[in-house]
Amino acid sequence: MKKTLVALVLGTMLAGSLCAAENKDPRLELMKDMRTMMDAMEQIQRGGLYSSTDEMKAGVKKLQGTLKSLESEEVKSILPKDQVYAYKFAQKTAQMLHMYSDDMITSIEAGRMDNALDDYTQLLKQCTSCHIRIRNW
Ligand code: HEC
Repeated sequence: MKKTLVALVLGTMLAGSLCAAENKDPRLELMKDMRTMMDAMEQIQRGGLYSSTDEMKAGVKKLQGTLKSLESEEVKSILPKDQVYAYKFAQKTAQMLHMYSDDMITSIEAGRMDNALDDYTQLLKQCTSCHIRIRNW
């Protein structure tokens, strides 16, 4: 969990630095969605820690709102051109994000916070597995 928090804080700092330069460039739009996804993950986490299921659900909805762009052709603008699998991989991760976020709503509504936490872990895994593969940090 500590590692997660560090990653989230670090991401927030990264996100702040780019806010000034926004326009209709698909790349910038996608980066904006990435930051929204991070907000959403933070909101879900905060909801979980404060046992606020409403906040968790609001975070899930926010996350789901960004998945369209992750699934669209536009995602190619942020993916490396030399990796043929990258686009397929992006679509697959988007599907997984759909699946685990739907499951999280079901778990919350059934009062299964242990399952909801598993879903959160799976969601975060999708983010990091793409970042590790695709970002050249
Ligand atoms: C299919 C691949 C993929 C998935 C899935 C993905 N990302 Fe990203 N993300 C990227 C790429 C590519 C970048 C930009 C890398 C770069 O050029 O630095 C990025 C950048 C970011 C940034 C930095 C944005 C900025 O302003 O610089 C944040 C924050 C972020 N992602 C959060 C998330 C979160 C949270 C999730 C999961 C809910 C997620 N991402 C899922 C590919 C992905």
